Amino acid sequence: MVSPAIALAFLPLLVTLIIRYRYYLVLFYRAVLVRVIQDCLTGLSREERAFQYVLTHATPGDPDSILDTFDYWCSKIEFISNIGPKKGKVLDKLLKETNPLTVLELGTHCGYSTVRIARSLPIGARLYSVEMDERNALVAEKIIRLAGFDDDTVELIVSPSDEVIPKLREEYGVERLDFVFMDHWKRCYLPDLQLLEGSGLLGEGTVILADNVIFPGAPNFLRHVKRSGLYEYRVHRATLEYIRGIRDGMAELIYLGAK
Ligand SMILES: C[S@@+](CC[C@H](N)C(=O)[O-])C[C@H]1O[C@@H](n2cnc3c(N)ncnc32)[C@H](O)[C@@H]1O
Repeated sequence: MVSPAIALAFLPLLVTLIIRYRYYLVLFYRAVLVRVIQDCLTGLSREERAFQYVLTHATPGDPDSILDTFDYWCSKIEFISNIGPKKGKVLDKLLKETNPLTVLELGTHCGYSTVRIARSLPIGARLYSVEMDERNALVAEKIIRLAGFDDDTVELIVSPSDEVIPKLREEYGVERLDFVFMDHWKRCYLPDLQLLEGSGLLGEGTVILADNVIFPGAPNFLRHVKRSGLYEYRVHRATLEYIRGIRDGMAELIYLGAK
């Protein structure tokens, strides 16, 4: 048995830790505990619950309404790691400046960022969105079509990114990527960037935006970007989607051309 005096001595330390890491505790509660409980209670996946909410609260064919409804669900009801409204604005701004005709997204999840990208594209542009999880892709497909985007504008590819990138030219007829949005597992950022560099699909001026380079972080990816000399880059500082107090950032790279 720990004596009350010793327990009392540790109390200030415990309180300090709780205060210091309170936002991470909130994240754990919202992203893990609530999810596990709701999974048991509803028998549905978190993504299916999100879809049901969007379906019953958003206006079909209106991408803005779908994104707003998703944002409400993620900030007030359950947590999903969509890019969210704040970092989403950085994405919107870059798309507006770049006006890309061919876009690749790695990590579709429920299709939030896919809808966000698709609504900013010029007429005739095409977005290839890659998702390896079949259950997530099923939800994403419904969200994307609910927002009003057809297969000609958004093509959802259900496969791991390292299998898709080498096939983009031959199977999908892609000649050049104007914009790449990376938001899949962080350990895949560097190998996939290197695959893209070797594919010949990046051209001078291609923009690559990579989310979560600070939290959870992608240090090897950032090291390569800095050392390779292939990119102009900057990090847009932000906070983690739908949670205050956890620092995050998005890396914007501009490809300077093969050396
Ligand atoms: C953070 S979520 C994407 C969120 C989405 N971009 C948004 O903002 O709405 C990451 C997704 O990437 C998918 N993913 C992870 N690694 C992948 C890979 N190597 N290839 C394809 N999909 C991947 C996961 O299954 C997950 O659905």
